[in-house]
Amino acid sequence: MTVNVPKIKLNDGKEIPAVGLGTWQSKPEEVRAAVAHAIKDGYRHIDCAWGYGNEKDVGEGIRASGISRSELFITSKLWGTWHSRVEECLDQTLANLGVDYLDLYLIHWPVPLNPKGNHPIFPLLPDGKRDVDHSWDLKDTWKQMEAVLKKGKVRSIGVSNFSQAKLEEILPTAEITPAVDQLEIHVYNPQHKLLDYLKSKGITPQAYSPLGSTNSPLLADADVVDIAKHHDLQPSDVLIGYLLAKGIVALPKSVTPARITSNLTGAVRAHETLTKTDIERLDRLAAGGKQKRFITPPWPVDLGFEHWPKLL
Ligand SMILES: NC(=O)c1ccc[n+]([C@@H]2O[C@H](COP(=O)([O-])OP(=O)(O)OC[C@H]3O[C@@H](n4cnc5c(N)ncnc54)[C@H](OP(=O)(O)O)[C@@H]3O)[C@@H](O)[C@H]2O)c1
Repeated sequence: MTVNVPKIKLNDGKEIPAVGLGTWQSKPEEVRAAVAHAIKDGYRHIDCAWGYGNEKDVGEGIRASGISRSELFITSKLWGTWHSRVEECLDQTLANLGVDYLDLYLIHWPVPLNPKGNHPIFPLLPDGKRDVDHSWDLKDTWKQMEAVLKKGKVRSIGVSNFSQAKLEEILPTAEITPAVDQLEIHVYNPQHKLLDYLKSKGITPQAYSPLGSTNSPLLADADVVDIAKHHDLQPSDVLIGYLLAKGIVALPKSVTPARITSNLTGAVRAHETLTKTDIERLDRLAAGGKQKRFITPPWPVDLGFEHWPKLL
């Protein structure tokens, strides 16, 4: 199927398709079919991560699609236990996916975890808190990200879950400005101030959990439903189309074929249909009392985000 998905130009000159298929929490046995279906249906962008534990199956789905690697935009992410060994984690991801380069590689969270801790993904301290490697400097993670870019193993580099404060830890010594920052962005968590900051730095925002993640209340939100009805769209189309209209890359996840299809075609239709008034109305939902984050892992560090639960 040919769908005219908008592309966004990154600060390094590369182009990224504005809708990508999310793969977090997609079970290995489901994600292979989901990825193959998505690519056959017009998706050209897949969002993966070493930490999701399903990259081998994603790779099988990519191969099963029959579309050549050069037509795809594949992203993956460096997990916290690998901040001091970026190339090693990347090599595992490349082998898992069965590809010889990534289009985009991101630091998954600005939280280096103890590489010698008691668990390879979520090392814990005896008190049950996550085992953060406080001796490791994020600037050095970024230096290693720059090195794998220069080696040609990835075509663009960026960050994820970086607030302005966290970006300011790496930008002064960065040779290369991150191309993207992947964040929780949707109508209940629009992060207007952070988006303005990213714009001032030329960093493209990517929206994770664009539908509000699992069991989302966003799909039944009265304003979203009203706008959807008005334009004969589905609420999910409005949620993704809203992001596209704002120049934000959206990464909806689904393992359900009909939803995978509509999340691309409906969103592109919504992007073309939503009016400035609709967008302004959606922009105001959070400030009007609906502000909510859905993804707040208990990292025992101050990430510097607005509306983050106080854990410290
Ligand atoms: N960088 C990070 O730290 C980070 C964090 C979270 C997510 N992400 C990325 O962003 C992607 C998306 O975020 P997410 O997975 O949290 O949430 P999401 O895409 O907002 O929502 C996914 C949920 O919505 C359901 N769904 C999908 N399309 C639908 C539709 N049209 N109508 C009704 N329900 C629908 C899915 O169910 P089914 O699958 O059962 O259809 C799933 O339960 C992730 O998969 C991952 O790639 C990154």
